Amino acid sequence: MNLRIKPLEDILASAERKSLHRTLGPFQLMMLGVGAVIGTGIFVLTSSAAQLAGPGMMVSFIIAGIVCAVCALCYAELASMVPVSGSAYTYSYAVMGELAAWVVGWALMLEYAVAASAVSVGWSNYFVGVMQRAFGWHLPLELTKGYFAGGFINIPAVVIALLVTTLLYIGTRESAWVNTALVVIKIVALTVFCVLALPVIQMENFHPFTPLGYMPVGNAAATIFFAYVGFDAVSTAAEETKNPQRNVPIGLIGSLVLCTIFYLLVAAGAIGSVGAQPIMVNGVGLTPGSAEFVTACKLAANAGTLACSDEALAHVLAVIGWTKIANLIGLAAFLALPSVILMMLFGQTRIFFVMSRDGLLPPALSKVHARFKTPHVVTALTGCCVTVAAAFFPVGQLANISNSGTLLAFGTVAVVVMVLRIRDPDRKRSFRTPLIWVTGPVAVAGCAALFWLLTGAAKQVFLVWGCIGLVVYFLYGYRKSHLANGTQA
Ligand code: ALA
Repeated sequence: MNLRIKPLEDILASAERKSLHRTLGPFQLMMLGVGAVIGTGIFVLTSSAAQLAGPGMMVSFIIAGIVCAVCALCYAELASMVPVSGSAYTYSYAVMGELAAWVVGWALMLEYAVAASAVSVGWSNYFVGVMQRAFGWHLPLELTKGYFAGGFINIPAVVIALLVTTLLYIGTRESAWVNTALVVIKIVALTVFCVLALPVIQMENFHPFTPLGYMPVGNAAATIFFAYVGFDAVSTAAEETKNPQRNVPIGLIGSLVLCTIFYLLVAAGAIGSVGAQPIMVNGVGLTPGSAEFVTACKLAANAGTLACSDEALAHVLAVIGWTKIANLIGLAAFLALPSVILMMLFGQTRIFFVMSRDGLLPPALSKVHARFKTPHVVTALTGCCVTVAAAFFPVGQLANISNSGTLLAFGTVAVVVMVLRIRDPDRKRSFRTPLIWVTGPVAVAGCAALFWLLTGAAKQVFLVWGCIGLVVYFLYGYRKSHLANGTQA
């Protein structure tokens, strides 16, 4: 069977020909990574994790962090060998062939586009809080939560998704300067949170540690995995990096280590200072974001819990008495989260672009706007889909769906690294994944386990999306592929 493998040499040569200006160093790459990683996951989904696992979410953060760490080590080896954009899609094309690359690219669309929706909904939560505290406006639930989250339509999420799409449409790429400023805002916010919350930890808040059992700790890990997603953005910038063989691994691993340290401290501070017991009915935990859960959270007895809070970190500080600082944390999230949406949407359009450059998607989709010089068709299309999803769905559900695509892509990257070690052992690798025959299988098994622990709904969406992808491939990409037709640009 012809797998249609794209030779590594060709990929490197075409990247060399179209090479972008190499300006990024290790520090900027780390900033890029941290900018894409810290977002709705830690600022909002901490509440969902508390609802799923109680104080045991501490372990969920550790599990998700370990899976991401081993995946990042695999990413780093590939990015140091094949420093081109397109990330997991391109690597798969070179090693496992076109069909596998298509599946990964299709899954990456789910990762980036649905993540953009999830972050828009997370931003909406902080927007509502900021409006309430700054101006005393209580915006109605029907207009600030989606239909499947106990409201009707999430207008703030719609507005921010459309706004960011418009920025991308007219060609706004966040400058390195703006990104660094926003990263600093996020890091200061998390540091202040830790400084205020950690000293007031009370050990009894960690008991019972797993009120709903061990399994939900795994389910929470599968959800909170979202908080770590985004470090792969570093590898997509490989073509714009100085000395990528050295700097991309530093950027990937450095940003992940920094975020992991913060997340563990923040999780410990949140649980220890205000407690993290889930809302239960007859001993059963309610699904975060579900209509029953929203109704239960309206009861006075539950209103002040971490699990019910839409703005987890601001909520914790307000409860421990730092109301003004809580407002500032809310403001920090309000300012910084749109840049995560921008990165996710940008990543999505980039994947689309690379796939259509390979002939797997219609060239009309990646048409470049005459004046703005942006792939405006795909940007507008993606923006509309992202907006509709953000309008109606709860943040946790969107995060889970996004995670399903990400886990497939990360797992595939680990497989690709191992295959290349066997097939092409002598190729120069300036970064080698340590203990690959342990790290690789752990990465694959970790991704598979987290996928399995996702909600049924997320897995169903993934399957439906995958089937649509296969139909599209066999109807279009299979016949039009530049590689198959010898028309490679
Ligand atoms: N990791 C990113 C976030 O948490 C996607 O918002």
